[in-house]
Amino acid sequence: MIAIERISKTFETRRGASHLALGEISLDVADGEFVSILGPSGCGKSTLLYIVGGFVPPSTGVVALDGKPVTGPGPDRGPVFQEFALFPWKTVLGNVMYGLLERGTPKVEAEAKARALIGLVHLEGYEGFYPKELSGGMKQRVAIARTLAYGPSILLMDEPFGALDAHTRTGMQNELLEIWERDRKTVLFVTHSVEEAVFLSDRVVVLTRSPGRIKETIRIDLPRPRRRKELLVDNRYQRLVVEIEALMDTPAQRR
Ligand SMILES: Nc1ncnc2c1ncn2[C@@H]1O[C@H](COP(=O)(O)OP(=O)(O)OP(=O)(O)O)[C@@H](O)[C@H]1O
Ligand SMILES: [Mg+2]
Repeated sequence: MIAIERISKTFETRRGASHLALGEISLDVADGEFVSILGPSGCGKSTLLYIVGGFVPPSTGVVALDGKPVTGPGPDRGPVFQEFALFPWKTVLGNVMYGLLERGTPKVEAEAKARALIGLVHLEGYEGFYPKELSGGMKQRVAIARTLAYGPSILLMDEPFGALDAHTRTGMQNELLEIWERDRKTVLFVTHSVEEAVFLSDRVVVLTRSPGRIKETIRIDLPRPRRRKELLVDNRYQRLVVEIEALMDTPAQRR
């Protein structure tokens, strides 16, 4: 469904030099597949997601969705990025309803749908709260509900849980898996956490140091539904984490 074909990105710097931000990447992501991207800081993970989202044009190559080349952003692709980017002047309900109203959904219908999504991310009771009254994990859940509201078939998630404490983070991973197991959206998920990638994904793609190219693709054939408690003591899970960590070429992990 997502066909990424020989994508690369060169940025022109202000001094007139050019900088290769992303090496050549080719990757096919199937309908309903959960794929995580891992790689060193600066290797081009965010750039790759922006290109698939249509926010940034590639320098070479093409991204096609069901055979149609991407030429810009669209409601079929829902971004969830690390900066929550909620409207501070809107309540939780207002934030989640926003995209629906923009698309001309009648108010009563938009509100009903938004309330259902707020329930899905376990925020019932907080409909009237403003973003500044919420914790980081709650804001991230609002951001996910807001993106789900307009019904994208593809979720583009760039370190969505990076700013959360460990406990909230595992809670959010469980919620995301619950939603994914229910709706089977296609997910491209960028993370720095090997455990998170193995826990969530069907496949993990490891990129090289900048400019990022695909170093290895690892299939995660752990059974679903996955339960964190069971996986942590599962040998296959542990072996995958160790195998992928060894691929991540960082000095701290070479020891
Ligand atoms: N708008 C831009 N203009 C110029 N260079 C850019 C721009 N955006 C990104 N870059 C460069 O492209 C490279 C890749 O950046 P990118 O943000 O995609 O990395 P990343 O893998 O997401 O890193 P991190 O893990 O730290 O988030 C970096 O060298 C960065 O400096
Ligand atoms: Mg990034």
